[in-house]
Amino acid sequence: MSNEAAPEGGALAELRHVAVLFADLQGFTHLCERLDPEEVVEILDALYDRLGAEAERYGGYIDKVLGDGLMVLFGAPQAHEDDGLRAVMAGLAMQKAMDELQPWIREKLGQSLGIRIGIDAGPVVYGKVGPGSRVQPTVIGDAANVAARLQRIAAPGQVVISDRGRRLAARQIQFRKIGLVQLQGRNAEVVAYAAVAPFASAGGAAQSTPLVGRSDELKRLMTVYTMAVSGKTGLVLLTGEAGIGKTRLLSEFLGILQAMDAKQRPVVVHVRNRWDVGNVYRPYDSMVGAIGARARQVLEGANGDAPPAGLKARALLFGGTKTAASMLRDICERLPAVIIVDDWQWATNEDGERIVQVIREAAGLPVLFVISGRRADLVPQASIAEAGIRDITVHRLRLAPLGRNDSWLLLQQHPAFSALPLDVAESLLDRAGGNPAHVLECIDSLIDQGLLAPSGDGWRAVQDRGALLVPEMLRNDILSHLDSLGPSERDFLRLCAVISLQFSVAMLAKVMAIAEAEVRSHLGALVEAGLLVAMDASTETYAFRSGLVREVTYDTMLKRHRRQLHLRVGEILEASGEADSADLVVHFVRAGVAEKAVPYGLAAGETLLQQGDHDRALALLSELEPLLSEGDTEHSVVLLERLGEALVCSGNCAAGLDRLLRALSLVRDPASRGRLMAQVGWAYAIQGRAEMAVKHYQRAQEALSGAGELQQQMLVAASMRWLYDRP
Ligand SMILES: Nc1ncnc2c1ncn2[C@@H]1O[C@H](COP(=O)(O)OP(=O)(O)OP(=O)(O)O)[C@@H](O)[C@H]1O
Ligand SMILES: [Mg+2]
Repeated sequence: MSNEAAPEGGALAELRHVAVLFADLQGFTHLCERLDPEEVVEILDALYDRLGAEAERYGGYIDKVLGDGLMVLFGAPQAHEDDGLRAVMAGLAMQKAMDELQPWIREKLGQSLGIRIGIDAGPVVYGKVGPGSRVQPTVIGDAANVAARLQRIAAPGQVVISDRGRRLAARQIQFRKIGLVQLQGRNAEVVAYAAVAPFASAGGAAQSTPLVGRSDELKRLMTVYTMAVSGKTGLVLLTGEAGIGKTRLLSEFLGILQAMDAKQRPVVVHVRNRWDVGNVYRPYDSMVGAIGARARQVLEGANGDAPPAGLKARALLFGGTKTAASMLRDICERLPAVIIVDDWQWATNEDGERIVQVIREAAGLPVLFVISGRRADLVPQASIAEAGIRDITVHRLRLAPLGRNDSWLLLQQHPAFSALPLDVAESLLDRAGGNPAHVLECIDSLIDQGLLAPSGDGWRAVQDRGALLVPEMLRNDILSHLDSLGPSERDFLRLCAVISLQFSVAMLAKVMAIAEAEVRSHLGALVEAGLLVAMDASTETYAFRSGLVREVTYDTMLKRHRRQLHLRVGEILEASGEADSADLVVHFVRAGVAEKAVPYGLAAGETLLQQGDHDRALALLSELEPLLSEGDTEHSVVLLERLGEALVCSGNCAAGLDRLLRALSLVRDPASRGRLMAQVGWAYAIQGRAEMAVKHYQRAQEALSGAGELQQQMLVAASMRWLYDRP
């Protein structure tokens, strides 16, 4: 099924985050020696069929069959919100399938046979590779190599995974640390883990923290429920991106229903993904099964042993929509019912059609259906309209990101909150963009990265806070979002990511050389998809939902492609004459065009320094440093001098001095030497090394007087006086 989704011809290679799974039969070469090749093929076929089916059930794409092994991709060609998790679940399911096949294998071979599985996850280039007519879509990247090598160290029956792969599934699956292992052909050691099993409570929203916000949504659910009880059958389509709080909202709603008086309390059917190895969640089937079970309970509870219900329940196993509806009718004769189907993104298209049928059959009954999932088009629109659900009220409830205040409240509930520096907390909330799971994920990732550490009873912040990496799980959420876009929308968004965090319609039209109307239609679609937000209607300004969305979108492009786009954007902005040099520098630096980046950069750096914005000046000038060529003395001196100044001003005197001394070593004329010597003196003075400062000031005076630079000389004299006057 998923194998049909291979990339179309000519599709551009792109950077993707995938999980790669390698499975290999243990001792197979040995077997080949003593078996007839025909028998070998027969056994392999049977095993592949079964193992491949397990992988595909979890959305894996069988990339290659390698003799006695398989390479399976999760995240290409189609990304799912939880590819790392799917890979691990598939690995465990493949091992379970092997266990079940053992009697058959022993009968065939007179011995048992195990598989080793290795998984890694990370960025890869996904595209078409191969000679001429044999071009194949595949992945190239470290993750594939690491997965293949982890598979080799796995014991038969084991699923071994890298640390970065494990993080993707750590919330749902329990792992055992194997330790540091040396992989063949690699210098660095990696930390490896073995997957054990899913946690018993996986897949549900952890309810350890109090609910923030969402009171309007809860009220709305209660209103719709009250209407349903009075016979206005309701359907709520609850949508929102991963981690936005759908499951959490539903569990609050259930809490309210369950707290009702026994006489009023409705019959609740609630199904969701429970991460059971080998049992892929099928929302529709689960719902029908659960309705059957509840109906039996209700009927048997009411009049003892009731054979008709039992019979119907059995009929339900065959999935008849009529039967499901008639069971509902049985329930509703006694009590109202609430049917909640969560994680609908695991459903198939046919499931969509079938559930609409059940709902239609239930029209007029006191039932409330709640279907919840990530995709905006939960159930096919057409079939809702066609099914003529006239007597049913359809409510669309889309969960928006939490507001800034609610996000703060959520963050404050985290035990490590008090150790979080305020600016880091602010930037964390910027990045999380109001998604509760992302807020929690970001702070956990600071702990993972060792930037927040337990100390005594509380927490403390450690070392460098600049390094807020994009947590992997979050990256996957966003990538799956991107994958749900059409190719033209995706390309449009990438161009936006190259341009900036924020942009106007007019500017996009200019840069992309398309009509404003077309720009508006793309922007509308991307706002609808929750990736961009409208900022200001009067200037028609739009922005990325969060910095993270931009980062992740940007990272999906190959470096070469990025460079080309930055060059294009830079040139267009330059020609427009409206852009300020700081914007231009970014584009020319990223395009790697030193001739343009350096002059603009130096000018912008100068302005920033004059404005006292040392941090930004430092960031900008540091980006220029690697672009300078050895021979370009003139620019090098200016850059080293400005960089030196910026470093000293932002408290890094030693590095600043180093740059200033290097600049000094490049100049010969007395005026420049005098000026730089004075700068060096100043840096020593700031560092508190008065003697060195005075020495350099004096040398500066000599050089400047030789060059006849009277004004400069006076400035140096003033600096020296300042040094002496200090307490
Ligand atoms: N309003 C909220 N108040 C407090 N915590 C919340 C809130 N919304 C979500 N959370 C927490 O954020 C995490 C993610 O929420 P939840 O599992 O409900 O997301 P979801 O929308 O169901 O995601 P998925 O599509 O992956 O199922 C959970 O730990 C949940 O408890
Ligand atoms: Mg959920």
